[in-house]
Amino acid sequence: MTTSTAPASPDRPLDMIIFGGAGDLSARKLLPALYMAHTHGNLPAETRILAIGRREWVRDDYLKWMDEQSRPFIESGAYESGAWDRFLSLFEYVRVNVDQADDYARLAEASRPNALRVFYLSTSPELFTTICDNLSSHGLLDEHSRVVLEKPLGHDLQSAQAINDSVGKHFSEHQIYRIDHYLGKETVQNLMVLRFGNAIFGPLWQAPYIRSVQITVAESVGVGTRAGFYDHTGAMRDMVQNHLLQLLCIVAMEPPVSLDADAVRDEKLKVLRSLRPMTAEDISRDTVRGQYTAGAVGGEPVKGYLEEANVPADSRAETFVALRAHINNWRWANVPFYLRTGKRMAKKLSEIVIEFADLPFSIMPNSPCGPRNCGNRLVIQLQPNESIQLQMLAKEPGSGMRTLPVNLNLDLEQAFTSRRAEAYERLLIDVVRGRLTHFMRRDELEAAWTWVDPIIEAWKRNGDKPRGYTAGTFGPGASTAMMARDNMVWSEES
Ligand code: BG6
Repeated sequence: MTTSTAPASPDRPLDMIIFGGAGDLSARKLLPALYMAHTHGNLPAETRILAIGRREWVRDDYLKWMDEQSRPFIESGAYESGAWDRFLSLFEYVRVNVDQADDYARLAEASRPNALRVFYLSTSPELFTTICDNLSSHGLLDEHSRVVLEKPLGHDLQSAQAINDSVGKHFSEHQIYRIDHYLGKETVQNLMVLRFGNAIFGPLWQAPYIRSVQITVAESVGVGTRAGFYDHTGAMRDMVQNHLLQLLCIVAMEPPVSLDADAVRDEKLKVLRSLRPMTAEDISRDTVRGQYTAGAVGGEPVKGYLEEANVPADSRAETFVALRAHINNWRWANVPFYLRTGKRMAKKLSEIVIEFADLPFSIMPNSPCGPRNCGNRLVIQLQPNESIQLQMLAKEPGSGMRTLPVNLNLDLEQAFTSRRAEAYERLLIDVVRGRLTHFMRRDELEAAWTWVDPIIEAWKRNGDKPRGYTAGTFGPGASTAMMARDNMVWSEES
């Protein structure tokens, strides 16, 4: 599937219409991101933000809620009272119960007829169909309208298709922005520049020069107040199906012919379609599910998952997944991709580790790694800091030829002093400017579900119980054992 790129947006006023305007995501991410975009002059001059909620509020109630619930999430040092007041002046609150067709008349009245309308659907996906149908029947959609769809986009392939079909009745593909905030992270976008803007990695970026790839997204936080959503979702759907597979795509894709949205998404799609389907045997050998038990994170005691609020006592939801994937194509034949994510792990750490192949033969005496290459590794860290390091072997100063591994260090936070926008801010600006490159296309989303679904189904069929791991560790021992079978270790253990 390809889509024409979004038509150049005429210079129109912007109506940003947020369904779920008084929700948790709005408070923590969307409104702070819009505040930053506004403060830095990245929203059109005539912008209005229409927050949609079902509470019987008037505008002042909403602004008070923003003050209390969202302002604390503005990045430190960026809050300024004058700028905040100017930002608040953009807002209207429109009470709409999304199931009530009549309520949309209030929205139709509040929105300007000549505006570029961006609808941000930050609600449960079960509501997307009703919302889109009503927007259409109230004449709120035209060929310039855009819709942003928050994850989770479905629970499996079938439900994702149903969402795509119903949204697709009212919006063309180039009007649909399926957001995955990992694609808005600076280092993830930088990975494309690293790969395709530098000559030196090109020839080495393939089998047999790469031995393995590790992608870790570890969180120190627990499920918090989200058990209602998380317990029937689990880490595979919440993180692997989207964020981790998108990172894998950017590492593994072929060079696109340009940075045009479809050129990039065509290449990512090929990767997703080349993921080797897992057999029952692969699933039992190459996947590990875990669930945290009580422990300590950052020196503080924390509860186990089953003791968290609103988690059923017999829950089998996984809060951790590790797996070994393969990509069936010429570039990546026999190169394992180890993916891992979990909550309540030892620390927040998101990184991609490219491990290059061993030396064919070492002439270095006393190499600390024997005949191996001491792990020439490219470590791309996304969180907590943004950095890129290339681990190399170097000679220790002094007589003799004692060698040690050292890092060539590209510290992006030091190299560039310009402000680094947060992922949501960058992606929202992309939506307003009609740039689709860092959003998922329908076929990508569905290809990801196609690969993930049989794994989840097999776990369910086998009555698979997640393995316990103590909060504050890097997951169950079985995850380390999975690596050990390949004579590998996770990066923090090496
Ligand atoms: C979200 C998941 O998509 O990503 C959350 O639903 C997770 O469960 C979050 O905590 C992690 O995002 P980040 O940017 O903090 O790594």
